[in-house]
Amino acid sequence: MDSEIYFKRNLLILIINCKISGFNFPLLVDHIAREAEYFMRTLTKFNQGILEPIQDAIISENVFWLRITMEHSRFIVSLLDASERNLISTARKFGDDFEILLNQARDVESMLYQKQPTSPIIGRMNKESESAAQEIRAFKKTGLDLIKSCQIRNVINPLLADHVLREADHFLYMIHVLEERLNAKQKAEQHM
Ligand SMILES: [Fe+2]
Repeated sequence: MDSEIYFKRNLLILIINCKISGFNFPLLVDHIAREAEYFMRTLTKFNQGILEPIQDAIISENVFWLRITMEHSRFIVSLLDASERNLISTARKFGDDFEILLNQARDVESMLYQKQPTSPIIGRMNKESESAAQEIRAFKKTGLDLIKSCQIRNVINPLLADHVLREADHFLYMIHVLEERLNAKQKAEQHM
């Protein structure tokens, strides 16, 4: 895993400095390197049995996944044919919506990360991410089906389309798990 991260990070520097050329955007390579680093962090937490406080977990998962999802929207924009005006404008709108949610999550991170007690605004942030993630999940699903049946003019690798859809599912799964933890904590506090 470490060597995979090293490979992607190295590749990125080579691309940026024009030492190698190809058709992968630097931000896409940085994106997949960050995903590998995220996976590594998750494994380390599992192995060490670390469970972050719920508020910190909600903040960091949201900041991570909102950025990833914003970038997916923008990768889609840049890989669609310019004649796909409608799809481009929808994808661009998703990019802007997720950028706003991401910046809001970063604001909350600056206000509340590693602070006590758990604030009620944390639950709302998770809910807002959930509805935005459900919308883009539906868009990605339709996109994948249209790509597979050759109904879109694009240069998107079907595997990449499938990957971004599975990541939307993972984001929704994480939101759900965090929501459950938050609810359990709030219930326990009511009984105290
Ligand atoms: Fe991704």
